[in-house]
Amino acid sequence: MTSREIRDAFLAFFKDKGHQIVPSAPVVIKNDPTLMFTNAGMNQFKDIFLGDAHASYPRVADTQRCLRVSGKHNDLEEVGIDTYHHTLFEMLGNWSFGDYFKKEAIAWSWELLTGVYNLDSDRLYVTVFEGDKGDGLPKDEEAYDFWKQVVPEDRILFGNKKDNFWEMGDTGPCGPSSEIHVDCRPDSERRKVDGKALVNADHPQVIEIWNLVFMQFNRQKDGSLKPLPAKHVDTGMGFERLVRVIQGKVSNYDTDVFQPIIGCIADRAGIRYGSSEKTDIAMRVMADHIRAVSFAIADGQLPSNNKAGYVIRRILRRGVRYAYTFLHFKEPFLHELIPLLAKQFEGVFDELIAQQDFVQKVVLEEEQSFLRTLVAGVHRFESYAAEYQTISGDFAFELYDTFGFPIDLTELLAREKGLSVDMFGFNRALDEQKNRSRAATAIDADDWVVLRSEEAIDFVGYDRLYCETEIVKYRKITAKGKDRYQLVLGITPFYAEGGGQVGDTGFLIAAGNHQTIAVVDTKRENGLIVHYTEELPSDLQGLFIAKVDVEKRRDTEANHSATHLLHAALKQVLGNHVNQKGSLVNADYLRFDFSHFAKMSEEELVQVERIVNTKIRENISLKEERDVPFQQAIDAGVTALFGEKYGDNVRVITFDREFSRELCGGTHVRATGQIGFFKITSEGAVAAGVRRIEAITGSEAERFVYEQSNTLNKLRGILNNPKDFVVALDRLLEENNSLKKEVEQALVEKAHQLKGELLAKSEDINGVKAIIARVDLPSEAVKTLSYALKGSVDNLFLVLGAEVGGKPGLTVVVSEKLVKERGWNAATIVQELAKEISGGGGGQPFYATAGGKDASGLDRALAKAKAFLQTETTAS
Ligand code: SER
Repeated sequence: MTSREIRDAFLAFFKDKGHQIVPSAPVVIKNDPTLMFTNAGMNQFKDIFLGDAHASYPRVADTQRCLRVSGKHNDLEEVGIDTYHHTLFEMLGNWSFGDYFKKEAIAWSWELLTGVYNLDSDRLYVTVFEGDKGDGLPKDEEAYDFWKQVVPEDRILFGNKKDNFWEMGDTGPCGPSSEIHVDCRPDSERRKVDGKALVNADHPQVIEIWNLVFMQFNRQKDGSLKPLPAKHVDTGMGFERLVRVIQGKVSNYDTDVFQPIIGCIADRAGIRYGSSEKTDIAMRVMADHIRAVSFAIADGQLPSNNKAGYVIRRILRRGVRYAYTFLHFKEPFLHELIPLLAKQFEGVFDELIAQQDFVQKVVLEEEQSFLRTLVAGVHRFESYAAEYQTISGDFAFELYDTFGFPIDLTELLAREKGLSVDMFGFNRALDEQKNRSRAATAIDADDWVVLRSEEAIDFVGYDRLYCETEIVKYRKITAKGKDRYQLVLGITPFYAEGGGQVGDTGFLIAAGNHQTIAVVDTKRENGLIVHYTEELPSDLQGLFIAKVDVEKRRDTEANHSATHLLHAALKQVLGNHVNQKGSLVNADYLRFDFSHFAKMSEEELVQVERIVNTKIRENISLKEERDVPFQQAIDAGVTALFGEKYGDNVRVITFDREFSRELCGGTHVRATGQIGFFKITSEGAVAAGVRRIEAITGSEAERFVYEQSNTLNKLRGILNNPKDFVVALDRLLEENNSLKKEVEQALVEKAHQLKGELLAKSEDINGVKAIIARVDLPSEAVKTLSYALKGSVDNLFLVLGAEVGGKPGLTVVVSEKLVKERGWNAATIVQELAKEISGGGGGQPFYATAGGKDASGLDRALAKAKAFLQTETTAS
């Protein structure tokens, strides 16, 4: 079977068992503070397990793209070194939401593996949870009994909490699990060592392929387990491993999932895959990492310097570094693999092929900039290594932190020079950094206090800005030493931050005692709408009026609707490659990031503004459709965003069918006329291939225009209200330029004339040609004059005092010969003289200047110079 057939067979099998096949969620997670990337197929169903959302179907199956590169599940360091861990992998999964449980999950997994994929049952082992005293959990007898019906008992092993109790994170849904392992060793080896002994022992040929989790609990913050409202099934099978087993390969990288990419890398490197361990690892790292990076970018996560963006940047850099060090790719290459990858995933995850050019551009730019850093880092290393005997932990950390050098690269470079690296010091520095960033971002959340058990989500804020409601649950959170409360309400008019639009603020007013609590923000967390307050109401049980800040909401809506018009106008003016890459909409302004490869010209910007303002004046009524089937909307050509997780039914916002139709959960004006006026305030680059427009609307735009016209009026006034302002200003600038030139010319002439006068007054004192004089010229002219004299007089000792606009200055020139023979130094002399003008200065031995505060001292300074000359020449 090809990998495509294997995937299709999985989905077909579960479809046949009554499962709804759903699309993969994006790999980048937007509304779960405990998770950056999708790390398991179940993530998108988390709120269903927790009882915070209804399941649309009782049984679903899918293939989910997952990343295990941070947090509780992190395989990054293994990737490439071994042959069965990946950064991005596909997880095939089937789920039951309160429907079937252990019996069916177990029977079907066996049926699929042995009956459809024809795996040799003799090579399969299953594990069952042995129970855990600490958690007060018994042995999973139930699972054991169901397994017994399909597998001989000697193939059923008991496993501990680490292997057989699956948890998504430190808190959240969890439960006992059963894993299926397969022994891929040749028969000769199997005869020698029983496969049973190698299960869960990190043997590269005896590997876990499927994990069946029986979700039953919610892990609380204090570590205790709370039963979930219902029991669920969550299974996850590593697709790449499964393919390897079915295709009879010893490594995931030998399957048709990776071979095309590996082949391409090997070709370009001019090195055969399989020729050495080092080069093989490098090829595996590249083949793996480009998948993670490409899908993360396609799902909306650009490489950057913090959080999820930094994780992606580091994965990409790890790839570039292996390519550079072991395969000698000195030029960017990874981006060239993207078209191949996009094609491979066509029809499975179309996000990549749809954005291929954009993703390539982003990766190319990252590669280029990291290669430059890499070269600079290697230089830095070379010069350090030339000076020191060991590489200190701090320096290794600097290379890691500033130049993106993984520690093994530093070790490698050190080894080549016969130096050692202080690993202890490095790890300490690394830990310190981790602790710092943990402290900076740590949010400490208490467990929820549940006041009422009811379906929490009921957002009424599309239609109403206030309503009567109750608190369903609340908890305290602490971030950066500040306490806040999160409240979940029964029904709420508060819009939770999402789709770029900021969360609503407003008030909760207690019906009983009229206590008013400010809602300072509203956010979505998984399926919940969470209201943030700085205090708790005294009566938590009573009724409340929830009231949104209307003015702020209206201004925000104007900016949101304007964003839709802008998006459509950009597509019209620049082309269909324009896709939204980021958006922020608040009451003050809007910010819109979009894919486009060049700076927008002034004309393009004006054109976009014109289109948007025309649409505003047309006063187009909002058409809002709720609950449109997703596919129906897509087929109708409605704009959807990449990296967004849409439900089965979506909301479509239309302003003129022919102009702007977007999938959107945000709030909008009733008709475009309410936007008033649209004005772009800036356009610039944010990342490779991504431009950013900032704009304002309504009263903000009006204020902006007034400000501009006020400034213009002031300027007109200054110029005595000319008829044509631009012509008048041009004329003024021209006049100014020619005056400047005239002044310069006059000064040159004056300097020339002064040179003659000064030469005439110069004195010969004991072999020194001395000129000590006042010339009240600007400093530039004094400089010209000084250099002119220096060039034409030998043995010159020149001291010039000048006062311009009340500011005194001194210049001292000593010809090189005097510097050498008599040891005079213009810099020391000028410093001494400057004391008389309450100033200071310096320069070189032959030319130095000083400025001061007291112009009345200039003559004294010159007298001091004369005295110096007298003593020095007499002494010699
Ligand atoms: N959640 C489990 C896992 O990730 C099964 O899907 O292994």
